[in-house]
Amino acid sequence: MKGLILSGGKGTRLRPLTYTGAKQLVPVANKPVLFYAIEDLVEAGITDVGVIVGDTADQVMAAVGDGSKFGCNVTYIPQDAPLGIAHAVKIAKPFVGNDRFVLFLGDNFIRDGIVPLVQHFQENDLNSLILLNRVKNPQDFGVAEMDGGKVVRLVEKPREPKSDLAVIGIYMFDHHVFEAVDSIKPSARGELEITETIQYLIDNGYRVGAHLLTGWWIDTGKMEDILEANRLILETLEQRVDGRVDAESRLIGKVVIEQGAEIVNSVVRGPAIIGERTRIVNSYVGPFSSIYMDCLISESEIEHSIVLENCCILDIRERIEDSLIGRNVQINRSPIKPKAYKLMLGDHSRIGIP
Ligand code: DAU
Repeated sequence: MKGLILSGGKGTRLRPLTYTGAKQLVPVANKPVLFYAIEDLVEAGITDVGVIVGDTADQVMAAVGDGSKFGCNVTYIPQDAPLGIAHAVKIAKPFVGNDRFVLFLGDNFIRDGIVPLVQHFQENDLNSLILLNRVKNPQDFGVAEMDGGKVVRLVEKPREPKSDLAVIGIYMFDHHVFEAVDSIKPSARGELEITETIQYLIDNGYRVGAHLLTGWWIDTGKMEDILEANRLILETLEQRVDGRVDAESRLIGKVVIEQGAEIVNSVVRGPAIIGERTRIVNSYVGPFSSIYMDCLISESEIEHSIVLENCCILDIRERIEDSLIGRNVQINRSPIKPKAYKLMLGDHSRIGIP
């Protein structure tokens, strides 16, 4: 069996971060979202992994490499434009060949991995297996309509959903999917839709199984979802201190301090992770925070937030909360009069002031 991960697309809902970086490389608990997908495939015994890449190909390739650090072989498949998930499947045909494969959207996360699901697909002589999850906002996803345990209809982001069953971005197929992607036409939004691909399989008598997921699933398309994924992953971390913590500092609960990190006269209340070479000085880092590498947080308080690499947060006593802070960001107190907010924000930035 092979794996196909989608790591192209635009990531418009995560602007401004996605102006400069791939959305699949945003770190959750200091690890890029995409890495969790690769690890799930490897855990299921899949070592041939194709990765669809778009505009951010260079970054994705630099981060993932040839796959050896994950224990798999990675083949990159360039997609000229994000013409749809089914389009990505179509261009992956030379890579997939006649093998059965798992299609994994690079921004999707599930708690329990895919081992039993792959087993279910293999043992039940199915042409496709889809995973479903009950959600409060089905209109934001592909939605499945069931009849007596069978999927009968799939609709992409319906305005009036007929069920609360969202189709998760992890799918399994055999080679018949290529017949389907060659038969469907682009949707109104100009994409070859994966939902219509699966509908083709259903309508043409192929065996499409559906499995209702019980553990959590997150599509990390929006900031709130990334913070939620971060919260859930941090809860599963084991305490580890590889960096330096001085005698005046306190670590409370599950805290990971990576190599070269330094905690000076500060309190870190877990679950939290402090990345390599990051310094926390005279500060408070609260629960559900992931501070990535090479940052400095000094005389400040932060909680329930993700900070990407190389940021400086200096002298911010009002607590920063529920925030996603991009690379190389500086937040500090300005000594220059008049006393005012002095901002230099990229397009589509968002700030909340009390
Ligand atoms: O998250 C589950 C949902 O994923 C499903 O319920 C929907 O049926 C499915 O269409 C998809 O919806 P999204 O709107 O979330 O898809 P998005 O455009 O965000 O693309 C998902 C991933 O695939 C993302 O990592 C980018 C990548 N991608 C997307 C397209 C359209 C590509 O690599 N190439 C593409 O052409």
